[in-house]
Amino acid sequence: MTKTATSSWKGPLLISLAIVVAAGSSAIAAQSAPDIYAEKCAACHGDTGKGDGPAGQAMQPPPIPFSTALKGKSDSWIATVITKGGPAVGMTPAMPPHPTLSDDQVKALIQYIKQLKS
Ligand code: HEC
Repeated sequence: MTKTATSSWKGPLLISLAIVVAAGSSAIAAQSAPDIYAEKCAACHGDTGKGDGPAGQAMQPPPIPFSTALKGKSDSWIATVITKGGPAVGMTPAMPPHPTLSDDQVKALIQYIKQLKS
């Protein structure tokens, strides 16, 4: 009985989750990479990607500057970290996933953080 109750309850939940995710990504679709970075990344990674944002400074260890951390990393590796979070590439869960970003937004963010003079 419990099993039936659980599976009939999951469908509507998944649908409402999908709606929330879709609404979230359209709400930020108009934002440019610097805006997205300032809003979602700078608190930890810092305005210039040095890892010295207010939340980053509180971390032990703080995020590594992008200029060092991104050396030799492919765009697809960076995209995985951004969308799926640190654990997806064997890194810390302190790097949260950002599943609502569109492919274009992720691409723009990758270019943005690569050119930050950190
Ligand atoms: C809650 C804090 C936090 C937020 C918010 C955050 N990150 Fe991170 N991020 C981390 C930590 C901690 C790591 C772990 C690796 C490290 O020490 O640099 C990391 C790792 C990364 C890496 C792997 C390379 C590296 O620097 O180690 C990339 C790329 C990255 N973050 C990009 C982003 C982007 C883009 C955003 C915004 C969409 C973002 N992060 C938001 C904390 C955060």
